[in-house]
Amino acid sequence: MTQDNLERLHRFHCYSARFPTEIAQSAIASFTKKGECVYDPFCGSGTTLVAALALGRSTIGSDIDRLAGILSQLKVNPLSPKDYFNWRVDFLPKLDECLNEIESAWPTFRSPAAGEIWKIGRLALSVPELDNLLFWFPPQVTAALAAISNLAHQSGSEHFEKVILASLSACVIAKWPNTLSYAMDIDHTRPHRRIQKISMKRVKKTFLSRLDRTLECLGHLWEIYQEEKGAAIAKVLVPCDARSCIAEISDRSQRLIVTSPPYFNAVDYPRAHRLSLCWMNGYASQELGSRKDYVGIRGAGGIDHLGWLSAFPKVKERLGPSLRNQNDKVKPLVAFFSDLERVLGENWRVLRNGGYAIYVIANNVIGKDRLPSHLILSDIAKSVGFERISIRSRPIKTMRRRFPVGPFGFDGPMTHEYVVTVKKPTRVRKSRTP
Ligand SMILES: C[S@@+](CC[C@H](N)C(=O)[O-])C[C@H]1O[C@@H](n2cnc3c(N)ncnc32)[C@H](O)[C@@H]1O
Repeated sequence: MTQDNLERLHRFHCYSARFPTEIAQSAIASFTKKGECVYDPFCGSGTTLVAALALGRSTIGSDIDRLAGILSQLKVNPLSPKDYFNWRVDFLPKLDECLNEIESAWPTFRSPAAGEIWKIGRLALSVPELDNLLFWFPPQVTAALAAISNLAHQSGSEHFEKVILASLSACVIAKWPNTLSYAMDIDHTRPHRRIQKISMKRVKKTFLSRLDRTLECLGHLWEIYQEEKGAAIAKVLVPCDARSCIAEISDRSQRLIVTSPPYFNAVDYPRAHRLSLCWMNGYASQELGSRKDYVGIRGAGGIDHLGWLSAFPKVKERLGPSLRNQNDKVKPLVAFFSDLERVLGENWRVLRNGGYAIYVIANNVIGKDRLPSHLILSDIAKSVGFERISIRSRPIKTMRRRFPVGPFGFDGPMTHEYVVTVKKPTRVRKSRTP
């Protein structure tokens, strides 16, 4: 299986800041043997997990985000193309019936209230409890998405429920004007709105093409895993905070960690995902309370930043003289790096002696200062006990990685990022408890 082929199979959903297959694939091939286990504590849409399974390795992925969980679970447990074909034959008439009903009963339209059961013809649709729902979605699209979401919840199969919801999310999260919403630049902290006309014909066409892409990619993944005889085991833990001790993963059980932590102040996942998660009642709520647990955007709560910096004088030095003296900027940065310290401590616990951890990270530009996040991460890894093996800069070939650019700080369009490789020593002193 070539990297390009595997890469293509992720493209049924445009998850923000997904990293390229080649990073995971080459690390797994270099540092593990068949049957060994690869862990990704920020698994997002499951790139590491898929690469591991395709190479016959077992894998565990965890993430705090529900949408990440849905995508990763689908990709590690796909069904056969025949199963998808049969299910589609059954599903399409139901979809047609709902969307036709909305169109024919439409003259009775009135604005729905958040959380109400909205009666349209013979349909009873659950309206998401999202503030300003009609600010982001035109009314008829709202009805259509609610109908699709109803079909998902009534599908009688957890797998197909996720297939429908992931395809619905793909229609919403796509870049404007290809989205079925009014939201532009959905990865930014606050998306902007730009009104566009979205007909029912377009809703149906867009959803169907997304659904077909999802089924095709998942069916191919199934075939790839069959080549490996399906012996490898995959587990997805969501929601799961990478900073805390994860009971389901035992000490020294993992051979390799390949991950990309969130970058500081980059993607506001809870905000960006709200517009698709709101259709997934039962899986996720639309409230933003969980933002406080997301690394990189959580603000500075509960941090003794001066105390932390005095324990990490090298990091303080790397912040540079102008940044170091601006408390308002330093506090959230220290919160970010102290979160990474906790994550690395947990990674140390689950990694076998002699195991490797690979972190993909880019530098931020904050005000006028460039912040060498890759060097800081490597300093922190050293303090946890890891040996530094290499830091490699790699160009980003295309603008495929979806990152916001501008005031929050990447230097124009992202052009490169760093792959930091560290190793847990083969012999570890007993007293070492990060
Ligand atoms: C750069 S993305 C990872 C993308 C992934 N490598 C992929 O290819 O899809 C970072 C991920 O970290 C997750 N995240 C943020 N804070 C977290 C936390 N406290 N614990 C676990 N995951 C977290 C986000 O939900 C996001 O999926």
